[in-house]
Amino acid sequence: MKRDANQLKALKGKEKISMITCYDYSFAKAVDGAADILLVGDSLGNVVLGYERTNHVMVADIVRHVEAVARGSRESFIVADLPFGSYENETEAIETARIMIEAGAHAVKPEGKPEIVKAIVAKGIPVMGHLGLLPQTAQKLGVVGRQEEEAKKIIEDAQKIEEAGAFSLVLETIPKELAKKVSEGISVPTIGIGAGSDCDGQVLVLYDMLGLFSDFSPKFVRKYMNLKDEVRGAIEQYSQDVKKGDFPSEKESFS
Ligand code: KIV
Repeated sequence: MKRDANQLKALKGKEKISMITCYDYSFAKAVDGAADILLVGDSLGNVVLGYERTNHVMVADIVRHVEAVARGSRESFIVADLPFGSYENETEAIETARIMIEAGAHAVKPEGKPEIVKAIVAKGIPVMGHLGLLPQTAQKLGVVGRQEEEAKKIIEDAQKIEEAGAFSLVLETIPKELAKKVSEGISVPTIGIGAGSDCDGQVLVLYDMLGLFSDFSPKFVRKYMNLKDEVRGAIEQYSQDVKKGDFPSEKESFS
């Protein structure tokens, strides 16, 4: 059953939220409704486009992929990442958010910036916040919030993002205890990635959990299959069939 932003928000304390990244039409059709939320994340910069950092992703990239996912999904709520540099001020953020909604997203996700969350929400566009590791601007990718000052800032920003009207909040790569504290301190659901089991929901990058992306594999990823090896095996088999003349057969040919 497809839920809107308010219904997802109301799940806090009642039912955990499942979110998975998704970038294209075929995967959207395959996973539609299997997770509550499909995130067209800027992790597409890593796993689809092959960049080391997500800050190479452009508005046009996310738009193209949101359109593809929206064509394939009927049952899941679609969130679009706002890419690096596309929400530098309130006017720009509102404009980019509108573009994402027109492309087929139901909500947008900027990293950090409670004042930007507030400006977008004020225009009636649902916003998912994002705190902890912020890959678009982080100096290095790793656990954030182990230092007292960092942890305090995350707790304060979570409250600001809730007050700004976000319907949910991603917590990325922070200590489990801190995620628990943040989750208990706000009334909107937290969705963790590398943030332990006390969050109100979880998100994983699709190609990580399917075992397709192998450049790096963070400790928090659970691999539900080894798609890379399966895909390679299938292509090797196909290649052998072609070379032996076993493919195509009569059945696979037209008379
Ligand atoms: O882009 C992405 O995949 C994300 C998740 C890590 C939350 O923002």
